[in-house]
Amino acid sequence: MSKRTPLIAGNWKMNKTATEGVELVQAIAAAVGIESAVQIVLCPPFTALSAVSAAVEGTHLAVGAQNMHDKVNGAFTGEVSAVMLRNLHVTHVILGHSERRSIFGEDDAFINRKVLAALEASLKPILCVGELLAEREAGTTKDVVRRQLELGLQGVPANKADQVIIAYEPVWAIGTGKTATPAMAQEVHAFIRQLLTAQFGAESAGRMRILYGGSMKPDNADALLAEHDIDGGLIGGAALDAKGFVALVQSAAKSLAA
Ligand code: 13P
Repeated sequence: MSKRTPLIAGNWKMNKTATEGVELVQAIAAAVGIESAVQIVLCPPFTALSAVSAAVEGTHLAVGAQNMHDKVNGAFTGEVSAVMLRNLHVTHVILGHSERRSIFGEDDAFINRKVLAALEASLKPILCVGELLAEREAGTTKDVVRRQLELGLQGVPANKADQVIIAYEPVWAIGTGKTATPAMAQEVHAFIRQLLTAQFGAESAGRMRILYGGSMKPDNADALLAEHDIDGGLIGGAALDAKGFVALVQSAAKSLAA
């Protein structure tokens, strides 16, 4: 870990009603107190955003959405816009998650339009990139990550670069219990920072957070977060219970002191 403020984000996916979400937030807030060394973002489903936003008031926790459309409004049944999210005091939005790409057919061009729309609305995008198992086995991990990153960030102005957060999520590690080793993850994170440096310059790239996601758990987090270019985590399963999630926040705090 470096001087960048670590970020631990919980991607609840399609889990938790609004009521359950508020209970989880209250338990997390009580456990982390006013710990400020680690930035914490909770990303509930749309239906819980309003209640969770109200529940984090006065705490150190921020709220993110899991997706959005790139248009401000219009005939897009089932979609929500950046302006609607901002109105609920949402500050972050996950974009291009592999489940959106593979299950819902989102392509790099659509994801890029969302990234630009999020920035336009002063929402911080968490852009997800990562290779499939077959791509890793074929030795094309870096090609895939390069394509997703370059196309996803096309047109992002340099003065907004540090509003963008990248999440490297090897698809084969998501929800499978298989984690990239710290060395494997660090290699890709360093490559991502190299690409960010080429696009935005060393100073901005040095400030941007690159999160790891994919079966990050309390028992493997210390080693991952100790790597120089791993600035936090995007957590799925382990974000659904307060104890596990808070343990990850504590790992990130510890990595700062190391
Ligand atoms: P898991 O932590 O459940 O593997 O999920 C990771 C993820 O997809 C976060 O966005």
